[in-house]
Amino acid sequence: MSMIERVIAKAKSDVKTIVFPEGNEERTILAAERLMKEGIARPILLGDPEDISAFAVRLGADLTGITTMNPLSGGKFEKYAAALYEIRKNKGVTQSDAENLCLDPMYYGIMMVKMGDADGLVSGAVHTTGDMLRPALQIIKTKPEMKIVSSSFLMDCPDKSLGEDGLLVYADCVVMPCPTAEELAYIAIAAADTARRLCGFEQPRVAMLSFSTKGSAKHESVSKVQKAVEIAHELAPELLLDGEMQFDAALVPEIGESKAKGSPVAGHANVLIFPDLQAGNIGYKITQRIGKADCFAVLQGLNKPCNDLSRGCTVDDIVHTAAMTAVQAQA
Ligand SMILES: CC(C)(COP(=O)(O)OP(=O)(O)OC[C@H]1O[C@@H](n2cnc3c(N)ncnc32)[C@H](O)[C@@H]1OP(=O)(O)O)[C@@H](O)C(=O)NCCC(=O)NCCS
Repeated sequence: MSMIERVIAKAKSDVKTIVFPEGNEERTILAAERLMKEGIARPILLGDPEDISAFAVRLGADLTGITTMNPLSGGKFEKYAAALYEIRKNKGVTQSDAENLCLDPMYYGIMMVKMGDADGLVSGAVHTTGDMLRPALQIIKTKPEMKIVSSSFLMDCPDKSLGEDGLLVYADCVVMPCPTAEELAYIAIAAADTARRLCGFEQPRVAMLSFSTKGSAKHESVSKVQKAVEIAHELAPELLLDGEMQFDAALVPEIGESKAKGSPVAGHANVLIFPDLQAGNIGYKITQRIGKADCFAVLQGLNKPCNDLSRGCTVDDIVHTAAMTAVQAQA
């Protein structure tokens, strides 16, 4: 069973409600049909119910059992607008602003998750990452024990000698352009948690990546990673985490042994933390395109799960992201 097949099986074991703010988008409608039919999640499609039905007829999609609603017909518009006003009034949001925001399916969907009327949210087939992330950060906010929201990419590589039977977790590849040492430490701790929950790693082994291994080079960007290692050890002393180390020292046992002798992680890492977003984003794309890995992205650190799609996503991608969101919601 592949990692994503295991995630889907787990999602089916305790079915969660997932809201899709882009409910009148064709791939989303087809994905919702599959999620419902296969018992992976209970989808809610936001948008004009008549439009959604017309699309479904055109696509030959059966929406039996799937809730469709627009913000005004959902019956909770006033409650959500009042709650949104309370959450954001100290940021200058007025009651009337809150009402306008709740007319936007993205904000309405996020309020559904915030208020417990949906367990998680998936969007991004049409909107950008920032369109979803900004309201999620403002309204759902981070978990109490987390300072920041970041992302992990679950990389399923054809070379099964890498990581955990070919599975590696990369972070952060989407959210934090220039993390500080402390933020990098939080990214590492969140990625280890994602590795446990979604990949089933019993023992995440976290490598803090750099162009230096154990002081082999000196630069302020290396010092940042060294500081992040210290902070992560203080925040999560039980976590197997080491660095700074180069990519090859993290993954190749002989190189890990020669460059970072005695490290509990070097040569056997299954979670790789990149020093910034440039490195992380480029790194996952190299692994995907040249290494032919399948990759699955999730946000981590949010108090309730919301996940982003790429605008070029397929129906399969939406189903997979919804399944991962549902498993995050089980926690
Ligand atoms: C995440 C992101 C969208 C935030 O956008 P922004 O417009 O700069 O947002 P702001 O800085 O105004 O922050 C909005 C709120 O989110 C909070 N916030 C921002 N980033 C955060 C993070 N990573 N974790 C937790 N909260 C965060 C801010 O504190 C602020 O909260 P407040 O309004 O309650 O004070 C921005 O960091 C970003 O664009 N990241 C890169 C995304 C990207 O393009 N990735 C590549 C895609 S492949």
